[in-house]
Amino acid sequence: MERLPYYQLLHILSLIVLIAHTFMAFANPAPENRRRTMIITGIAALLMFISGFGMLTLTKIPFQTGWVIVKLVCLIGVSALAGMAFRKVHLRNALSTIAMALLAVAVFMVYFRPF
Ligand code: HEM
Repeated sequence: MERLPYYQLLHILSLIVLIAHTFMAFANPAPENRRRTMIITGIAALLMFISGFGMLTLTKIPFQTGWVIVKLVCLIGVSALAGMAFRKVHLRNALSTIAMALLAVAVFMVYFRPF
């Protein structure tokens, strides 16, 4: 259990990087930024997966728990948005609203764990 804070730190740091670079893509989807954004958001999303599953193992929370599945779906959704910002530039406002909604749902799941 003493490893838990390290996973928590990794989870939050990679979340900050994922959000920051996703919203940078919305603000400036210039083609020359695409490769760098895809690499950074890809690595950040992967680290979120790894730290999330690491914490599930340490806390013995089963994977088939409602709030975990919901968070997983939110993470998959958020991870896809930066790439879409470069391809569908005119949809950036809608994509940023979707990002905010997915993040709000995921954070709600953390603190309320309704199921
Ligand atoms: C966009 C998606 C996600 C967001 C915004 C998010 C956010 C957070 C936040 C804010 C915390 C609380 C801080 C902490 O305890 O360290 C947390 C904890 C946690 N997250 Fe995530 N997370 C996401 C995805 C995931 C995924 C995909 C998994 C599992 C595969 C996961 C598993 C966990 C676990 C197990 C905890 C710790 C609970 C505990 O300490 O008892 N998260 N997450």
